[in-house]
Amino acid sequence: ERREKESLLLVNDFARQFYEDQLYNTDEGKSVGLSYFKKRGFRKDVMERFGLGYAPMKRDALFKAATAAGYKAEQLDQLGLIRNKRDFFFDRVMFTIHNLQGKPIAFAGRILKKDVKAPKYVNSPETEVYHKSDVLYGIFQARQSIRKLDNVYVVEGYTDVISLHQNGITNVVATSGTSLTPGQARLVKRQTENVTLLYDGDKAGIKAALRGVDVLLIEGLNVRVVILPDGEDPDSYLQKVGTTVFEKYLTETRRDFLFFKSDLLLEEAGDDVAARSAAIRSSIATLALVEDPLKRQGYVQQFSNKLGLEESLLINLVNTAVAERR
Ligand code: CTP
Ligand code: MN
Ligand code: MN
Ligand code: MN
Ligand code: MN
Repeated sequence: ERREKESLLLVNDFARQFYEDQLYNTDEGKSVGLSYFKKRGFRKDVMERFGLGYAPMKRDALFKAATAAGYKAEQLDQLGLIRNKRDFFFDRVMFTIHNLQGKPIAFAGRILKKDVKAPKYVNSPETEVYHKSDVLYGIFQARQSIRKLDNVYVVEGYTDVISLHQNGITNVVATSGTSLTPGQARLVKRQTENVTLLYDGDKAGIKAALRGVDVLLIEGLNVRVVILPDGEDPDSYLQKVGTTVFEKYLTETRRDFLFFKSDLLLEEAGDDVAARSAAIRSSIATLALVEDPLKRQGYVQQFSNKLGLEESLLINLVNTAVAERR
């Protein structure tokens, strides 16, 4: 089992080399793939660090190269790299997904044309070496910096990670567009206890942040949230305003999970008393997920000051929510 996984990882590493070789050393790769990445402003050293590549248009390019090099079709199939002797990834720029040790475990391919029909990204399926719900994109490249800074930014997309990394914000990983899982929270916790969610400034991003907060709190992490201006993702906003303004935005708009959530819900509630109490209850339910009673008490104090609510009332509500917590 262990040996089989090792051997699958070697096949994936061959695929990574293949996609990189296509990107840098073929006419098609250079004119289509490399120029795409350059247009996005990605630097060569960063592209290499993240194992970016290019999957050519030909439908069996990887299949032929890999089998000619002695790799078994069965393993290529198990890794989701081929289906019926045809390449799974073609005519796309490629992103390598690494495990914590830096081994390629999966791939994602981004479409180049603005074709509305095909999905923007195609991702490797679940395999023996890729359990999507336990993986964070960029964790290998971010690991040292996360430990040093004792904080991690969690973003939505592959290109957000690369763009921030290139601009000196290297403690960043991506959920790859899905909601944050307990497995991903535990992976983070092995590196740091402090997480800042940095999600897109749209409805989906805000919803994802609300869900992510609860998952992270349940795993015992300290959670802060930054929401970007509407319509921006970390990559687009950083490219738009530059590193200095971007970093200033991060520090100035970063809020503890509790005030992110309560401000948001209270703003939606407006002056309606029933809606306001529902918003407060929902915030309290999230606060009750904090295991550490000292931290909880600290938040209760801040919350009561901010809302002008009796601290004893809040304590009762929080204690009830803790007892009902599941
Ligand atoms: N995603 C995916 N499949 C899709 C769309 C999105 O897996 N069809 C995941 C990818 O991990 C993507 C992330 O969700 O990086 C965020 O999606 P989106 O914001 O649409 O893409 P960006 O990362 O911003 O990519 P780009 O800047 O190239 O448009
Ligand atoms: Mn397994
Ligand atoms: Mn979005
Ligand atoms: Mn995006
Ligand atoms: Mn983007």
